[in-house]
Amino acid sequence: MKIIKAKDYQEMSRKAAQILAAQVIMKPDSVLGLATGSTPLGTYDCLAEWCGKGDLDFSRVSTVNLDEYRGLDHANDQSYYYFMNKNLFSRINIDPAHTHVPDGMEPDPEKESKRYEELISSLGGIDIQLLGLGHDGHIGFNEPNSFFDKNTHCVDLTEMTIEANKRFFASADEVPRQAYTMGIGTIMRARKLLMIVSGKDKAEIAAEAFLGEVRPEVPASIIQFHPDVTIIGDAEALSKIN
Ligand code: GLP
Repeated sequence: MKIIKAKDYQEMSRKAAQILAAQVIMKPDSVLGLATGSTPLGTYDCLAEWCGKGDLDFSRVSTVNLDEYRGLDHANDQSYYYFMNKNLFSRINIDPAHTHVPDGMEPDPEKESKRYEELISSLGGIDIQLLGLGHDGHIGFNEPNSFFDKNTHCVDLTEMTIEANKRFFASADEVPRQAYTMGIGTIMRARKLLMIVSGKDKAEIAAEAFLGEVRPEVPASIIQFHPDVTIIGDAEALSKIN
């Protein structure tokens, strides 16, 4: 596990984007696992900028996103599909048909979970998975639990996550209570993991996840067992890690 300390959010974002850019340069038909939330926004800005300058080519890249709220369609501005289009896909030269997000409108969780796992396999697996860190230690939407969920599945969001994500909605009542997410197994099968973490409100959970005991109550702790993981955090988020 490599832990890289960046001085601030901008430096964290640039370093993360450099790693993703290197992946695309080395393997132009890479499968990138992508994430939502506020943490990756700066990373996506860098990628869009470099692509605009002609330094990066996404024409052969495929993407699979970690998660999606259940019940939100593509046109809903709070859906993760909408977020990805707005913040990355519409700004780079990727083929929209190569971008994949779980289908929040599929009513049958088993069907959607199976479809998404098969899709990832058919693409040849994920080359590098970008991850953010939830305040309760979740990755994707794998919430604290008494076991590690294997594959893509439907989850009930915790109160802490609903609370943390309500800032994007008109009120907490409008935050969906469920989501589809890649499982811990799906994430751990990615060939590389790239975790980004920013801000002092993540310092405690970052120390617990990266240095503490590996346990399903802190889902992100599992990444300690991955053979190729890079963590990039800003000084505030890594303030409890020497
Ligand atoms: C959301 C997403 C996660 C994300 C996390 C952290 O709930 N499902 O994939 O990593 O929140 O978000 P932020 O980066 O805004 O702190």
